[in-house]
Amino acid sequence: MTWESVKNLARGREDGYKGDEEIPMATADQIKALIRSHAEGDDSRFYSVAMQLAAGEAHVGHKRLASELTTVIDEARARATPRVVASAIRPRPLAQPRGDLGDLLLASYPAQRLSDLVLATPLRAKLDRIIVETRQGDELRHHGFTPLRKVLLVGPPGTGKTMTAAALAGDLGLPLFTVRLDGLITRYLGETAAKLRLVFDAMGQTRGVYFFDEFDAVAGDRGASNDVGEIRRVLNSFLQFLEQDETTSLVIAATNHVGLLDRAVFRRFDLAIEYSTPDAGQAEAVLRNRLSGLETSDVDWPQVVGAGSGLSHAELARAADQAAKDAILDRSKAITTDKLLTAVGERRTFPR
Ligand SMILES: Nc1ncnc2c1ncn2[C@@H]1O[C@H](COP(=O)(O)OP(=O)(O)O)[C@@H](O)[C@H]1O
Ligand SMILES: [Mg+2]
Repeated sequence: MTWESVKNLARGREDGYKGDEEIPMATADQIKALIRSHAEGDDSRFYSVAMQLAAGEAHVGHKRLASELTTVIDEARARATPRVVASAIRPRPLAQPRGDLGDLLLASYPAQRLSDLVLATPLRAKLDRIIVETRQGDELRHHGFTPLRKVLLVGPPGTGKTMTAAALAGDLGLPLFTVRLDGLITRYLGETAAKLRLVFDAMGQTRGVYFFDEFDAVAGDRGASNDVGEIRRVLNSFLQFLEQDETTSLVIAATNHVGLLDRAVFRRFDLAIEYSTPDAGQAEAVLRNRLSGLETSDVDWPQVVGAGSGLSHAELARAADQAAKDAILDRSKAITTDKLLTAVGERRTFPR
């Protein structure tokens, strides 16, 4: 259904319009999907569910309500601004002319929450500890302890490391500063070290979550001219700054390549958290969460989850999205086992 046809329905101009048709008003699932998409900052999903709501009201003959809803949605869309406007929300100290810090840090206030992630219980417990110790940091320091601040996330791609950094910032109400490694790592170690210093200085000036995503991967991506020794020197430089850092900001580093890291690296962090692909229960939760707005009561979950075993959270989420799109294009709200099996099978054949 297109937005125009919803509006036509609201105006009562659609040929197939039957005022006495018995279609329920907002379903519980739609309301949940609305709230969830708002919480996740997923605007396109939010508006698409809102549009379904308006269409439903038009179908049951609530033309005035449907028309009001379409107006509200149109107005909201017209006013909507991207949630992440780095320059507008960059805290004041960062706006000061301090070399090229602006190119090194991308600031945002994430809408994600840890509760949006599907995580093994022990992993979630570690993240909860970070939240508690950060919130009660002053209390701990007062008694001579240092709260957990330097955290390493390790594990295969698509298991939620980047999302975790955003969710920690979201739950703590702190800004997220994603360090732009492409701007940071240059051919010259001296320059890289100077830029790293800018970033670590910023941690003391503006409290936040400072996220070094796939640090080693970027260092390792720089081509054949870049020998292991050079990567090692950049990493060592980072670790030195990390060791000296005593601010109240949270430093999170993520990597897909546990093999590149030795014990000396792990030692500099307060906590290392290992991510892995989901087990059956977690895989089902990822799929179900993603399909929350749709009818899934006929799905044979054990079969689908079995077919998707070994896939990452991200791949499962993409498979769910594909099945959802198929259902929408079929003009049906029901997700079938077949649709999901096909979608999961395709993720298997063409990983990423
Ligand atoms: N643990 C998880 N729970 C729910 N969804 C997840 C999880 N991990 C990944 N996803 C989905 O996959 C996407 C990519 O995940 P991401 O955090 O970038 O993975 P990583 O950084 O480990 O490669 C996320 O935006 C989310 O949609
Ligand atoms: Mg990532």
